[in-house]
Amino acid sequence: MSSNLANATATLRCISCGATPASASQNFRCASCGDLLEFVLPEWSHDPPALKALWLHRKTLFKPLDQSGVWRFRELLPEIPEAHAITLREGNTPLYELPRCARIAGLDSLQAKHQGMNPTASFKDTGMTVASSSAHQQGFRWVACASTGNTSASMAAYAARGNMQSLVLIPEGKISWGKLSQSLDYGALTCQLRTDFDGCVRILNELVRQKPVYLLNSVNPYRIEGQKTAAIELMEQLEWEPPDHIIVPGGNLGNSSAIGKALIEMGDRKLIDRLPKLSIIQAQGANPFYRSVKEFGGAKLESMIADTQATAIRIGNPASWKKALRVLQATGGEVEQVTEIEIAEAKAEIGADGIGCEPASAVTLAGLKKLRKQGFVKSGESVVLILTGHLLKDPDFTIKFHRGELFTGTPYENETAQIRHQQRAPMVLDAELGAVITALKAAETRNT
Ligand code: F0G
Repeated sequence: MSSNLANATATLRCISCGATPASASQNFRCASCGDLLEFVLPEWSHDPPALKALWLHRKTLFKPLDQSGVWRFRELLPEIPEAHAITLREGNTPLYELPRCARIAGLDSLQAKHQGMNPTASFKDTGMTVASSSAHQQGFRWVACASTGNTSASMAAYAARGNMQSLVLIPEGKISWGKLSQSLDYGALTCQLRTDFDGCVRILNELVRQKPVYLLNSVNPYRIEGQKTAAIELMEQLEWEPPDHIIVPGGNLGNSSAIGKALIEMGDRKLIDRLPKLSIIQAQGANPFYRSVKEFGGAKLESMIADTQATAIRIGNPASWKKALRVLQATGGEVEQVTEIEIAEAKAEIGADGIGCEPASAVTLAGLKKLRKQGFVKSGESVVLILTGHLLKDPDFTIKFHRGELFTGTPYENETAQIRHQQRAPMVLDAELGAVITALKAAETRNT
């Protein structure tokens, strides 16, 4: 067992009928009822303070797997033989104060855990290191995913590191250049399909039934296990004192499920003594989960044609909605939706704190402002936003925003008054000192 990364075996279980298959089929669906599978951790007898000390100590060691902010928490992960583990030293992401955003939201303080500081610049790496290692262990030559751009970037990198081939299915014209360029450079076979993300998922599900291709979307429960570590690491950074609220963006709903699962498991194992409320924010144009909760009490989810400029979460039929519902209910969190204008404004506000993120991440601040107004979040409460992707993932959005072109020709063209004060367009000047001094003076006048 010493060559294995975890010291006890996690088992698979269907989230609906409770079946416990010995292994997963190619589409990671329950063979009896078709619903999703999850890992159940075995009972373990670790002493919480000793385990916390061990996790922290591993950060000081030089072995790649100890330096990984995912694998150093291996006691809460499924077993993978060490020889198969693929790591880019993911995780270990910073927790930042956002003082300006706190003031805007009406809070004493506000923090953000920036998962965009991962090796391929999004939170996907934390799940991909575990799931790609599982593909390697099982001897797959090909791995594949449908993606809005970040999963594909991450998968392509980890596949390359593990000497596997990767197949990417992305919606044509609806992913950012930063993300597309990553999957090309990392060597993926990249197919831009003339459909949306949900259409790409449908085709991929057919493909894995016919070909020996390993599916790396977040229906793969290994992905969820890896993504759990963001919440574990967050608690470590807060010295195991849970915040009152954690706020995440919701797209396919794998990440919220993962963070919620981690919170519940840490509570069960006495690593934390209370659960933060986990709230999920969707773009109004891609809000099937919001509608499921608000209109149907979570009894069903109606898929929709999604549309938002936050292309990472342009998803109309989220695979993990039942898992997300469960963690929402278990932690007492809320679900909110935010408009395109609110997303753009919040993104510029996070940028002005010197942090920055991609549009989908900014729904967290936009949602927080609403939850604050509704009184669900109170001024003295502690709040952590999960920023999922780096600012440079989607520079097009940012440049259009600051130039005042983001909403040109859209239904929101006449609603941009509230965001004008955030726009900081570049100035084109003659190459003369006088012109620069005039610009400086004008800026000083504006700022006083
Ligand atoms: N934020 C970013 C930056 C994302 O890329 C995604 C999802 C989400 C939030 C939502 O997370 O799907 O787990 O609820 N991106 C996927 C992709 C769908 O293909 O890159 P979720």
